[in-house]
Amino acid sequence: MEQYIIKGGIPLVGEVEIGGAKNAALAIIAAAIMTDETVIIENLPDVRDINVLLEAMQEIGANVIRVDRHTARINGGKIGAHSVDYEFIKKIRASYYLLGALLGKYKEASVPLPGGCNIGSRPIDQHIKGFEALGATVKIEGGFINAKADYLHGAHIYLDMESVGATINIMMAASMADGNTVIENVAKEPHVVDVANFLNSMGANIKGAGTDVIRIKGVKKLHRTEYSIIPDQIEAGTFMFAAAATCGDVLVKNIIPKHMEGASAKLTEMGCIIEEYDDAIRVIGRKPLRPTRVKTAPYPGFPTDMQPQIAAALAIADGTSMVTESIFENRFKYVDELARMGANIKVEGNRAVVMGVEKYTGARVSAPDLRAGAALVIAGLAAEGITIVDDIHYVQRGYERFEEKMKGLGAKMERVDSEKELQLFKYREG
Ligand code: EPZ
Repeated sequence: MEQYIIKGGIPLVGEVEIGGAKNAALAIIAAAIMTDETVIIENLPDVRDINVLLEAMQEIGANVIRVDRHTARINGGKIGAHSVDYEFIKKIRASYYLLGALLGKYKEASVPLPGGCNIGSRPIDQHIKGFEALGATVKIEGGFINAKADYLHGAHIYLDMESVGATINIMMAASMADGNTVIENVAKEPHVVDVANFLNSMGANIKGAGTDVIRIKGVKKLHRTEYSIIPDQIEAGTFMFAAAATCGDVLVKNIIPKHMEGASAKLTEMGCIIEEYDDAIRVIGRKPLRPTRVKTAPYPGFPTDMQPQIAAALAIADGTSMVTESIFENRFKYVDELARMGANIKVEGNRAVVMGVEKYTGARVSAPDLRAGAALVIAGLAAEGITIVDDIHYVQRGYERFEEKMKGLGAKMERVDSEKELQLFKYREG
């Protein structure tokens, strides 16, 4: 199995280019089948989740051509099956975006019920509530969600919580319903706005994405478009916290600084210097970092997908910090792994009390999920000595060329696939 091996203690210095947003791209790829014409999507991140979803779409009959690593040409005109195979949803939950897309276009869809995952149970009751409000009959049979409608009509939907997935899935279905739909208490994440902009570029009529209320006038057909995905705020934040934890000086390029306000504000509280440019942010770390308190919240609050990364930096701050996870119920599994590297963190319910220690020491650790894996890499980069991270397939789901980008910033980090390579690295780096 592939592993990352890292010789820590080297400040990250230099420039790093951020790729397209995984969580926008997954929904946009699914939405691309809502027209019978050809859609070209650019700035796709070349990561596992994207590649699996593209496969799932080919499986149901979409014509998918990977023009290059970051560009796909998709035509959903000949989709035959409206049922997505279990194999795909097992690999990637976001296949459930095909529910909204297929229901919107064909008025029927069948997608395996996505399991929970390592960070929580992750129900989809809000998605189903929205589809039913639009006139669909939704049944869960044999592990599948079967949604069907004679026709979809506009509705006034109030979400119980600002669910990113439910907001996007309902928005997709409603974009081709008859009449007007209002969705309240929606998620406002940048990737929700990106999906709305993409659908509008196909001829949808969606207003208010990024605010608390989205208003949609359904249309009969959607048409071809060419679209470029927004930069990935979570990948950007990961590199920002890595710069902080290694007391480095990193220019994070090709981003939208406004999307990074949550991370920038916290890094400033932690004593880092933040310089904002039009499409870049420079992070200059300090040693030791200052402690702070952070609570994850729906956008524009501090993103839950950056919670493990800030905790990894705070674990070597000079004092005690508080990290509160208010979105998912099981997102502290990385704490036990950080403890192996010398961290002193006590988890009490949805709060972690992070008592800063002077330094991490390298150890062998295992990534419990995508963002936790990234946090372990951050700890390894800051640690004294050598860290080996197992189960990096989680990390590869959401980070393109992660080790290459880190090496571009001066990190001594390799992705290895054998004991021999591991030993060679140890011998070389001492
Ligand atoms: C998206 O997941 C992201 N995934 C997650 O990123 C991210 O952590 C999450 O949004 C929050 O920002 C993708 O976009 C592919 P939610 P999603 O619906 O849509 C509860 C990563 O690291 N809920 O906003 O599944 C749910 O249990 C991943 O890239 C319901 O109760 O998240 C959670 O507590 C991890 N019922 C909260 O809402 C529902 O029907 C927020 O979930 C839906 C959600």
